[in-house]
Amino acid sequence: MRVLVVGGGGREHALAWSLAHSAAVDRIFAAPGNAGTAEIATPVPLKAGDIPGIAEFAERESIDLVVVGPEVPLVAGIADELESRGVPVFGPSRQAARIEGSKAWARRLCRDHGIPGPAAGEFTAVAPALEHLEGMRPPYVVKADGLAAGKGVVIAETRDEAERAVRDCLERRIFGDSGATVVLEEFLGGAEVSAFGLTDGRTVLPLSLAQDFKRLGDGDRGPNTGGMGAFSPLPFVDEATERAVTGILESAVGAMAEEGVHYRGLLYAGLMLTEEGPKVLEFNCRFGDPETQVVLPRLESNLGEVLLACVEGNLASYRLSWTPRACVGVVLASGGYPGAYAQGKPIEGLAESASVPGVHVFHSGSARRDGRVVTAGGRVLTVSALGDDLRAARRAAYESVSRIRFEGMTFRRDVAARAAGEA
Ligand code: AMP
Ligand code: GLY
Repeated sequence: MRVLVVGGGGREHALAWSLAHSAAVDRIFAAPGNAGTAEIATPVPLKAGDIPGIAEFAERESIDLVVVGPEVPLVAGIADELESRGVPVFGPSRQAARIEGSKAWARRLCRDHGIPGPAAGEFTAVAPALEHLEGMRPPYVVKADGLAAGKGVVIAETRDEAERAVRDCLERRIFGDSGATVVLEEFLGGAEVSAFGLTDGRTVLPLSLAQDFKRLGDGDRGPNTGGMGAFSPLPFVDEATERAVTGILESAVGAMAEEGVHYRGLLYAGLMLTEEGPKVLEFNCRFGDPETQVVLPRLESNLGEVLLACVEGNLASYRLSWTPRACVGVVLASGGYPGAYAQGKPIEGLAESASVPGVHVFHSGSARRDGRVVTAGGRVLTVSALGDDLRAARRAAYESVSRIRFEGMTFRRDVAARAAGEA
């Protein structure tokens, strides 16, 4: 099987790496990929958003399976374009990707089908939105409806701050059309988990749960990022909760099917574990980053086969097997991220870091220049380590991290610390 992985981050490196271990996969291409994927996949100089370019390439190269990493091309309809050309694609259609592309649509779906979530209202005009705020208690959760590169959610402590966020969206249009509708939500407290389900539109195969560390700084301080670390499995989640989580993924796929929307690909539910059970904070239409970098190293099944089974509608007979070992992933970011940061800084110690037993170093934003690997993004590497338990995995991950250097390197020291009983 010839596989094309679309995207160039750590998630895509982990996908390509896992596919490279699949007996069914003969050759992997990565568009555009990065310096890490270049070791296992043929680079294709096309941006993930270049839908016509990618579709033409896939057709010309007789690609047997396209695996789409990022949400932007999915929401823009890359799966529809590939399918219309007869190219098998793992990833939802434009219509199905609305579950991430429109938070208002996702909230409406949950409400209509009894899927648990926070109380929420959707507004296109300022006056009714402000009136709704009067009935809410702080903190206020204000979300732009559409894709906003992870910047569209404001948790406002005061009524004034919430009003500003509403006006930023609806009047100032700081997110353009993505903010033409604003969603106001009840604030939920609890532990946050990332749940992934592979689906062919009927069967949902849950993957092992993970937790993401979204804030830049230790102790969950500092600005929100794309994710500074992750670990899996989650020792604080019992079987009943896990069943409830799988139920949410199944309900969402079933609800879409009832509405004539066939969802095929990976469904990601960001969930808050509340006293009343898990509730949906958001859905994403793709694998999470950096969660993928800690989930896939634990997967013992053949990823290529199972993704193809999703595409062919044969998931019902599938079972996944997992190593009981734990995986901890630490993201190494450029100084300044998530704000402005420098690029092109040489990365030292990659070979030494990868030689720690159980460690895989996934590249998130890297490039090869004059024979050296240099930084080329905000998040640069994810160091993922397997260990017999979370403590051992943490030890291996941070030993590996200590061997890597680049100017401005920034990372969290507390990834999985609490769950490992070390904080
Ligand atoms: P989202 O992009 O919807 O995942 O939101 C980004 C982050 O904001 C989430 O990962 C949560 O940490 C937080 N968040 C979103 N919605 C809520 C909510 N209703 N209550 C509490 N926190 C939330
Ligand atoms: N790690 C969060 C995300 O992928 O959206």
